[in-house]
Amino acid sequence: MEFSFDINQLFPERVSILDQTIVAGPKSALRPDLQAHIATVIDELGRASAKAQQLPAAITSASKLQSQRHQLYLLKDGESNGGRGVVVGFLKVGYKKLFLLDRQGEHVEAEPLCVLDFYIAENMQRHGYGLELFDFMLQHKNLEPVLMAYDRPSPKFLSFLAKHYCLTPSVPQANNFVVYEGFFLNRSAAQLRKVPLKKPDGEIKPYSLMTREVVRQEERARPWPFAPPHSPQRSGSSQCSHSLSVESSPSRTPPQAAPASSPGSNRDQRPQSPLIERCRIRRTR
Ligand code: ACO
Repeated sequence: MEFSFDINQLFPERVSILDQTIVAGPKSALRPDLQAHIATVIDELGRASAKAQQLPAAITSASKLQSQRHQLYLLKDGESNGGRGVVVGFLKVGYKKLFLLDRQGEHVEAEPLCVLDFYIAENMQRHGYGLELFDFMLQHKNLEPVLMAYDRPSPKFLSFLAKHYCLTPSVPQANNFVVYEGFFLNRSAAQLRKVPLKKPDGEIKPYSLMTREVVRQEERARPWPFAPPHSPQRSGSSQCSHSLSVESSPSRTPPQAAPASSPGSNRDQRPQSPLIERCRIRRTR
């Protein structure tokens, strides 16, 4: 994604981490014109991501980033565009309090790090940039992808997670978040709290207020673009290394969680766990 201004001046590092303060890198006072350029980049990325996901409104913008406690990882290619650099994409994460269903269907309260938005420029997709950005975030957070929750992942993203991190199948949820089997296995009791059932199932509100819901209310837009009634629903059970074939940008169909199968092993929680290593080996091959 090209801009009329110098991307390298705004973002000195290949991956920059932006938060509420918006400023990349050391929290020094930045010239107002540069601040404005950073805001333009974030707004542009947010719009492009929403378009790619067929969302009614952007869920990422400079003003939203300033008002929410999220972190945005921005990847650039500093050499392109005559040395001025181009923006390759971004990944936005944040903690959310969620009510989830474990494999036994019991309600569990957790506050995992969630992937909220993820976008690589159209002409740069499927070149490994998404993986580079995602791996950077995992290293930065010292986290394994199975311990994260995914806010309504698109078919491309589900395929990405299955291919690179062997994340499949997911544990069925009543809300828009997707979690995988190891999520419940690899957490200490302190991080997961069983929620007592006081009301009949039908009355339980299983999820917290989500960014996407807020956007929907803000924009008073049409309901989420669920797939037309006759569209085939995604199974969500893609095999590791077998990606889904999505030719064009996906319609934002709610992910259909696959039925839980055999429980995952109790894995090391570091990014270099055997599972990820296996995926990496497959990737390299
Ligand atoms: N169709 C199917 N799978 C795809 C596609 C596609 N068009 N594009 C990427 N993938 C998946 C595949 O598993 C692919 O492996 P393959 O080429 O062997 O089939 C793998 O991703 C490629 O890995 P990377 O090159 O590292 O991924 P990329 O740089 O393309 O980034 C991303 C992945 C972010 C999903 C990108 O494709 C994208 O921006 N898509 C459009 C926006 C989107 O759907 N974002 C996710 C929103 S959901 C959320 O944020 C919670």
